[in-house]
Amino acid sequence: MDTSTFQFCSGPVLADAARVEGLHLHRKRLEGIGLKGLFAQDPDRFERMHVKAADLLLDYSKNLLDDAALQDLLALAEAAGLQQAIPALLDGAPLNHTEKRMALHTALRLRNDELPSSIASEVVAVRERMLATADRIRAGQWRGHTGKVINTIVNIGVGGSDLGPMMAVHALQDFAANDITLHFVSNIDPAHISQTLAQCHPDTTLFIVASKTFTTLETLANANAAREWLLSALQDEQAVSRHFLAVSVNLDATSRFGIAQENVFPMWDWVGGRYSLWSSIGMSIAIAIGSTQFRAFLDGGRAMDQHFRTAPLAANMPVLLGLLGVWHVNVLQAQSQAIIAYDQNLLHFPTYLQQLDMESNGKSVQRNGQPVTWQTGAVLWGGVGTNTQHSFHQLFHQGTPLVPVDFLVATNSHHPHAQQQAQLFSNCLAQSQAMMLGRDLASVQAEMRSKNVDEATIAAVAPHRVIPGDKPSNTIVYQTISPAVLGALIALYEHKVFVQSVIWNINPFDQWGVELGKQMSNDILDAMQAPDKIKRLDASTQALVNLFLKGQR
Ligand code: F6P
Repeated sequence: MDTSTFQFCSGPVLADAARVEGLHLHRKRLEGIGLKGLFAQDPDRFERMHVKAADLLLDYSKNLLDDAALQDLLALAEAAGLQQAIPALLDGAPLNHTEKRMALHTALRLRNDELPSSIASEVVAVRERMLATADRIRAGQWRGHTGKVINTIVNIGVGGSDLGPMMAVHALQDFAANDITLHFVSNIDPAHISQTLAQCHPDTTLFIVASKTFTTLETLANANAAREWLLSALQDEQAVSRHFLAVSVNLDATSRFGIAQENVFPMWDWVGGRYSLWSSIGMSIAIAIGSTQFRAFLDGGRAMDQHFRTAPLAANMPVLLGLLGVWHVNVLQAQSQAIIAYDQNLLHFPTYLQQLDMESNGKSVQRNGQPVTWQTGAVLWGGVGTNTQHSFHQLFHQGTPLVPVDFLVATNSHHPHAQQQAQLFSNCLAQSQAMMLGRDLASVQAEMRSKNVDEATIAAVAPHRVIPGDKPSNTIVYQTISPAVLGALIALYEHKVFVQSVIWNINPFDQWGVELGKQMSNDILDAMQAPDKIKRLDASTQALVNLFLKGQR
């Protein structure tokens, strides 16, 4: 297959002015009706505008959209070749053409007997060894150099080698072994590794150096610091083999670092960093929850993959979520997208999604190298409700930017205090309802009058209390966070990002922008260590470097 020109369709659909104009006409028409009007016209709106898959329910009825607009969005997806693109992704076509790679992370969610023969033996061997090692550690059968049982794990990695595992370990803590403590160190800021090591004991700590490339500055610096710390306590090079595991494609570099071959868990170049928690990069997740639950996590992702492959576009959850995003960005001109999880377990989910979404779709060049002339990925941000209600929801309700929100919420908690779960759930619904319905001037004035507020105060204050409404949101509901539900949620967003990349005609699997920063930081560090090179830098950077050097004296 010619990887440089791989296209799903004859041309970019958003360059088709008539098609885009058609979507804008829908917007104008729908703005005239408003969300309240759409619900009033159609009592069955929720029935028709929700979809279930892999134990998730997506309610997309609170969007300024009707059947006619949705049909045109689905036609856009068809014209973009989405029906060809989905199997191409899932079957391992070389979609990452700028790096000449497949993006076959979905294969890692297949069961052993379902894997394509070309990768089956390797994937099964690594997966089974990884899970057996995780179970050994959980069973207290991994002893450190001094014979003590390992009870502390430090995952050292950054980006995809950190955010996914960190998010999932936090999310699944109700399924985790209580006698193992997990830490995640990512930042090159020396505070991160130092503060973490201060909580660890060398006899009982195992480090996982997680780096696809094993060349990432942050990870190698932190891993070296961890090794120095270990050796200064245990005073024996041999200790490294009992206290370090590595996950990487770069087996030469792991061996140069001194990690015993049997402690290295390979991965493959066809697994992108931000899609890698399904691979051995998920070792810390497996240690936390054990092999049985890790397989359930993979199964959750696999169930979403099967839905993505087989469901018609109009009933396909990732397709609908992706198209809604396109509607928000390209038609309603929203520049950001918020993810609000009413689920404390999903504290790190928005941060994880930031890399998945923005590193993937933060692109401005089409697959053929031509610049795009339409908006692509939005800024993704968020947090956990109800906390976010008390920080930034004000901007959702009365601010000038349009911020479509995905609300995520469970019906059940793993914990007692059931009334609080009901309060959490009702708060979540109240936010999407308030965004949709808003509050008009007449109702504000009536309420103030009913409280005997004087007319002068009503005239002065009432306009400030008006909430425009008509703000779009999706709500994703699940019973409770479990390995399978988390797996399905992650796969849902992975595929949503892919769907959008197809409409936007961009490659979501490379990240050249990030690479530039890595190169430049090396050049600047070089200049900081060899003052004659400082002059090569621009004037601002020179001045700031000099400030640093002065501060260090
Ligand atoms: O942040 C950029 C990036 O290249 C990510 O794509 C990747 O997840 C991260 O760096 C870490 O890379 P590695 O796993 O190779 O250390």
